[in-house]
Amino acid sequence: MDIITDIKAMQDRCFAERAAGRTIAFVPTMGFLHEGHLSLLREGRRRGDLLVLSIFVNPAQFGQGEDLDRYPRDFARDEQLARACGVDLIFYPAADAIYPDDYATFVNVVGPLTTTLEGASRPGHFRGVATVVAKLLIIVQPQVALFGRKDFQQLAVVRRMTTDLNLPVEIVGMPIVRETDGLAMSSRNVYLSDAERQQALSLSQALARGRHLAAEGVCAVGEVLAALRAMIEAQPAARIDYLRICHRSSFLEQERIDVDSVLLLAVTVGKTRLIDNGSLLDEAEAC
Ligand code: PAF
Repeated sequence: MDIITDIKAMQDRCFAERAAGRTIAFVPTMGFLHEGHLSLLREGRRRGDLLVLSIFVNPAQFGQGEDLDRYPRDFARDEQLARACGVDLIFYPAADAIYPDDYATFVNVVGPLTTTLEGASRPGHFRGVATVVAKLLIIVQPQVALFGRKDFQQLAVVRRMTTDLNLPVEIVGMPIVRETDGLAMSSRNVYLSDAERQQALSLSQALARGRHLAAEGVCAVGEVLAALRAMIEAQPAARIDYLRICHRSSFLEQERIDVDSVLLLAVTVGKTRLIDNGSLLDEAEAC
């Protein structure tokens, strides 16, 4: 496994790999790898001849007062995990290589996709994500890139951006990986105290309850959200940022739950902001 920090060296290597007829599968991350990332790497291993992982904590997607400085980092551990997943190449650039002093170009996906939900709560976040993902795709030149569905809106933004910019890459969304008690895996889970970790279960429990209500035929969005809100607010350390039921592709809010409905939620537990999402109805259960 090689580790490359230099952008030009990375681009030259990936160009040579493609010229030699190899398929590049790419998993972009901010490091501090967990099972969710590893599931992307395993699928990437299956899909590509060359498996590339990038580790870059992207300053452009963090807002003022967010956790950029304390975002967990452990390169030695990530390196070991990557090796065990069969990664061929880690791209590990420095922030000032990606964004030199005279850096001036950003990718902005406009519309409800980036102004609602995460976009409303974290202004500029998706501009930072779209910019770095576009840059990484141009550097790594993969035929396929894999992203987790825990960041449901991010995945939609990345798909929109690659389609609109005609980037020749297949974007693959992979299922959320959960702890055995239901908590969605996230690098930020390490911030949680034991008591907060317990209360953080209210996110996945709300999802399960939403699915249960919809399957029982309770499809009025207002009624379902009121029940879920009460569940989460019963946790003393939990503060709801948003709790919405939206159409999976337009991201517009719905009044009735259908097969295209997705529940999306962001909840701050203690000082840790957590997100989760999931669909509410299978085809067979439609209200
Ligand atoms: O999901 C993440 O870890 C990041 O948002 C990504 C896609 C690597 C861009 O920095």
